[in-house]
Amino acid sequence: MPAPSSPVLFDPARGLAVLRTPGSVYALRIGSDGSPRHVYWGAALDTADLAALPSAQSRADSSFEADAAPDELAPQTGARFGPAGLQVRFADGTRGAQWVFAEYTVKGDELRLLLTDRRYPLAAELGYRVRPGSDVIERWVELTHTGGDDSGPIAVDRLDSASWTAPTLPDYRLSHLVGGWNSEFQLRRDRLPVAETVLTSRRGMTSHHASPWLTLDDGTATEEHGEVWSTALAWSGSWRVTVHRDPVGRTTWTGGFGHEGMSWTLAPGQTLRTPVFAGLYTRGGFGSASRAWHTYVRSDVLPQPDRDRPVVYNSWEATGFDVDHDGQRRLARLAARLGAELFVLDDGWFGARTSDQAGLGDWRPRPAAFPDGLRPLADEVHRLGMAFGLWVEPEMVNRDSDLYRTHPDWVVHIPTRDATELRNQLMLNFARPEVESWAHETLDRLVRENDVDWLKWDANRVVTEAGWPGHPDPDRLWIDHTCAVHRIMDRLRADHPGLGIEACAGGGGRVDLAILARTDQAWTSDNTDPVDRIGIQHGFSQLFPAQTMAAWVTDSPNPATGRITPLRFRFHVAMAGALGLGGDLTRWSEEELDEAAALVARYKDLRPLVQRGHQHRLSGPGGVTAVHYASLDGIEHALLAWRPSTRFGHRSPALALPALDPTARYLDLDEGTAHSGATLTRQGIDLALPRGDYASRLIRLRRVG
Ligand code: DGJ
Repeated sequence: MPAPSSPVLFDPARGLAVLRTPGSVYALRIGSDGSPRHVYWGAALDTADLAALPSAQSRADSSFEADAAPDELAPQTGARFGPAGLQVRFADGTRGAQWVFAEYTVKGDELRLLLTDRRYPLAAELGYRVRPGSDVIERWVELTHTGGDDSGPIAVDRLDSASWTAPTLPDYRLSHLVGGWNSEFQLRRDRLPVAETVLTSRRGMTSHHASPWLTLDDGTATEEHGEVWSTALAWSGSWRVTVHRDPVGRTTWTGGFGHEGMSWTLAPGQTLRTPVFAGLYTRGGFGSASRAWHTYVRSDVLPQPDRDRPVVYNSWEATGFDVDHDGQRRLARLAARLGAELFVLDDGWFGARTSDQAGLGDWRPRPAAFPDGLRPLADEVHRLGMAFGLWVEPEMVNRDSDLYRTHPDWVVHIPTRDATELRNQLMLNFARPEVESWAHETLDRLVRENDVDWLKWDANRVVTEAGWPGHPDPDRLWIDHTCAVHRIMDRLRADHPGLGIEACAGGGGRVDLAILARTDQAWTSDNTDPVDRIGIQHGFSQLFPAQTMAAWVTDSPNPATGRITPLRFRFHVAMAGALGLGGDLTRWSEEELDEAAALVARYKDLRPLVQRGHQHRLSGPGGVTAVHYASLDGIEHALLAWRPSTRFGHRSPALALPALDPTARYLDLDEGTAHSGATLTRQGIDLALPRGDYASRLIRLRRVG
């Protein structure tokens, strides 16, 4: 048995597993029927106390229920009536699994529990990994057909990554993210109904509409206080999480890849591995949960967490599809003058792409726009001291393209059904190995030949008519396409170590822990209106750190909403993430260009704090919204505050900064005034927002003395 201080312990005599993070404990026990059952998830308890705990039983006392603790993965057998995380069918039509606990392995921070079916050739390995730096526990499952060649296939109708259980509480509140194109990441906090609540994407992508993240509390937690249980699935395709609050007060949730109704086949010897479903517990409220997620993303998810996210200039809102060498060079020169560090040539540079009607799939520079190819622009961008980035949408194809004319069979389709076009495009089936190879080679060549430092990988439609003609297990498309996208990104990064990748799917349609494991940041939303962005960024920050949140300053009036806002306000909103520029700089006045250059320089000073500090949300959208970034050593601090509209006769209240040290003093670096930490933490700081709508402030404080 490992030393008691080890983060992972399994006591074979009691069948008890204990996972410890600095701020939490998770415990489970092998039930008398061989199924791992939940025991505890919460604040620290010692192992003897955990061993004495009964498994978390239901309060129902009736012959209509089995008196059993919640499963770590419910296998659809026995008196189980909630959502089953594992649903299988054997060749004889029998459903579900009945486990025998076979063995365990503990290796460092990892625990694996091997379960085998009593009668059928099926094994499941439940994996647990502790990420001590962030209080996160990762979970996943590997399901294997252990039969010989003569045994029939096993149908897998559902294979979740994990089931989580909250303790019995008087009430439950569910925090989750909803939205749509241009309104991603809207935070909802709703009382959890006594029912099954399904959060899902059936689109083959994470989606703009829901995120595979949720947080539960008892309805009283705040940003700073209260127990919360939070989980996030690391998957970029279709997914489903079902939260089940039963009438006697128990709440569990099970989640994994795939939406309802799909079925995958396991042939003898085959294994299906789920994505990671990560979870954390904290007593420090929603803010503490977010900071723990941010730490986790930085330490265990992002490929290059310590690399400064560059100030990007992106041409899309300036030029749309109307791109050519001279126009882009003009923008690049202005972008360099403003201090941009990366110039991204967006859509429209290739094939016959002068609108969204044609060209997708033909990844060769459009001769009329770039007669000598992209290299001269890339060289000019480099000469100006910026990195060169290129927009691609490799999973997509227009019917009007050479690629589609050559390989019409490469698209996801059902021959007997009408193909739905979205944005005039179809989706390539990356689950087919030859399509994956084509995409990898095409991107590799583009990067190599054009000295590309950054790819913006876009995807502007989702899956419909999900067919894979001729394939015996067509629903594999939903998993294999996503895995191929991940694999191509991984290979590109491995072969081009300096290459950065920005995840994009019509804005924030594919932002999740799995895509961030192979990209540097995500394009948060196509909505660049700074007022709308405040709400989008607030939701995004629940799970993802600021360095992954691409935020551009664009033109005023905003091209989408028509809202007129001051440049400074737009900058202050975008400075809360990975700052970028996206406007038509050729129309900006000299004064605007100078002001923008000064604000970019100010952001660069701030960048270590925003991109690597701790984030504290001081107030949510509506009225005054403010965010506080603190350096990890607690010395440097920055506040960004935004008030989109003013009210006559209402002064903005002082904002308390609970993350500061009440015993210290803090110097306002711009005003030169000193404040006592006690006052700032209790009474708060007067933001002194200027009069009028679209008021904003950036305040920098340094701990002194
Ligand atoms: C959607 C992206 O979100 C935009 O930034 C832009 O790249 C367009 N696609 C280009 O078609």
